Amino acid sequence: MTKRVAIFISGRGSNMEALVQACVGDNFPAAIVGVLADKRDAAGLVFAADHGIPARAVERKDFSKKIFHEDAMLDALAEWNVDILCLAGFMRILSAGFIARWNKPLINIHPSLLPLYPGLDTHARALADGVKVHGCTVHHVTAGVDEGPIIAQAVVPVLHGDDETSLTARVLKAEHQLYAHALRGFITHEWAEQSDDVVFSPAFAR
Ligand code: GRF
Repeated sequence: MTKRVAIFISGRGSNMEALVQACVGDNFPAAIVGVLADKRDAAGLVFAADHGIPARAVERKDFSKKIFHEDAMLDALAEWNVDILCLAGFMRILSAGFIARWNKPLINIHPSLLPLYPGLDTHARALADGVKVHGCTVHHVTAGVDEGPIIAQAVVPVLHGDDETSLTARVLKAEHQLYAHALRGFITHEWAEQSDDVVFSPAFAR
């Protein structure tokens, strides 16, 4: 059965685009039924609307309290009858209350091989440490930021001469492939029993 997926973004939305494109492909077990941004000027909202997907901005500054902002986001999810919520470059930390009230699958993509480099500036930190492999992680969202059980990971090489721009681009390319792959696997229950320990390591081209 096709799952109804909503995506939360804050900006460009290239991971959201990758999921949208995967979902219109053959036999993908999900449909994107709504895109929500916490910023009115998030470029990804335009892409979603242009593709006939309900697109909505719900800005924090329009609400006096965080809980009211989160209520409005939960209202959108209820309105769209969402089964799975995917975060894709959504730069706002959802409260434990939101996660509890949502109470359905909630997935994020993070640009590092968690538990390494939680938080921001992951590529710069990886370069500063001189690591030879880096990558991205699709994981369940829990109240601990970037701490939820891992669903899937993609490994990318760190190459001699890489700078933040080149490494970011290589990881982003991997993110676009990994997110759709992980969502499909999650929905088709391939990883339902062991969703915290499966590693996906495609050989990404340089
Ligand atoms: C991605 O690298 C994502 O992992 C991180 O922020 C970036 C968002 O890019 N959290 P986009 O908006 O999906 O293009």
